[in-house]
Amino acid sequence: MKVLGIETSCDETAAAVVENGDTLLSNVVASSMDLHVKYGGVVPEIAARSHIEVILPVIKLALDEAKCTWDDIDAIAVTYGAGLSGSLLIGVMTARTLAIARQKPLYAINHVEAHVYANFLTKTSLLSYKMPSSQPKFPLLAIIVSGGHTQLTLFRDHFDYQLLGQTQDDAVGEAFDKVAKMLGLPYPGGPSVSKAAQKGNPNRYVLPTPKVDKYGFSYSGLKTAVLRLAQKLIGEGYDFPSIKLPERLSEAQKADIAACFQRVAVEVIADKARAAYDEFRPHSVIIAGGVAANQELRRKLTDSIPLPLEYPDLRLCTDNGAMVAALGCFKLTGQQSQADPYSLSVEPSLSM
Ligand code: KG4
Ligand code: ZN
Repeated sequence: MKVLGIETSCDETAAAVVENGDTLLSNVVASSMDLHVKYGGVVPEIAARSHIEVILPVIKLALDEAKCTWDDIDAIAVTYGAGLSGSLLIGVMTARTLAIARQKPLYAINHVEAHVYANFLTKTSLLSYKMPSSQPKFPLLAIIVSGGHTQLTLFRDHFDYQLLGQTQDDAVGEAFDKVAKMLGLPYPGGPSVSKAAQKGNPNRYVLPTPKVDKYGFSYSGLKTAVLRLAQKLIGEGYDFPSIKLPERLSEAQKADIAACFQRVAVEVIADKARAAYDEFRPHSVIIAGGVAANQELRRKLTDSIPLPLEYPDLRLCTDNGAMVAALGCFKLTGQQSQADPYSLSVEPSLSM
């Protein structure tokens, strides 16, 4: 059974083919990231326009790479939320049209839930992908950390999950992006902050650990603490504009700030994940979303969780169509309800 997955919730136009929920046959991602860099963040109108330009070639490439024709495809899965409405719309309208024209069942996919399913991909013939050795087992604790989400979710089975807690304000990836901006580091902030952090001392400055109940998270206070620290280091007050900070901070100060921020940002995730592990004793712990690419987070989790942890390939941690197709496979075999190709609409603020 083969499913075509389509993902356009933010700035990546992505399509992939997955077989039987565990085998990655193709994974094509066209990012409009370069067009957003000069604005320091994703511009929704630019993202939507790029999706329109590349979505059909991306889908064609995904089928070609998987050596599939439309006859081989059993269903189409598409992200319908959460995300930018203009971006989601392009993927959903394309998937609806293809489902009608090619007479395929259509599955509406929750983007955040899909991130978890990147962990179910264990096989591929694509070169250079590093896959986990086995699929996670239920009950499964999912640590979902991205530009839009920071949450702990307990999956008792497919489609049977409970949100244990989530961020009350900013998502962890968003905090990485904003701290990068303060330090004058390029967008996306996650990779650039962690690169700068490699040269810094993570214990150089004291930053407050967010205090939130149980499994909740909060990153806006930490972000503000970074701003205040940077203002203090250059001898300025609270009214000094953050946009002028990069030119006044030395490279060494930037590296130390990045390292201290990263330490606190990932430590709290590892601590809460450990508490959830102790309470629920899951059989697997997985990490999903763009921030799963963070090596320091991986290191901390490996230290705090007493289970062998495996991670998806970096290309399957950030937004991609493969995770959407993988979840689509499980929806198809699990006889979950299909979406109506004549009426499926987007849900920009869909939650889990
Ligand atoms: O899952 P994703 O591709 O998109 C969303 O659904 O949000 O995650 C993107 C986020 C961005 O905020 C980016 O800065 C962050 O993931 N990210 C990282 C790293 N790579 C990407 N954050 C920390 N460390 C990284 N290495
Ligand atoms: Zn995502």
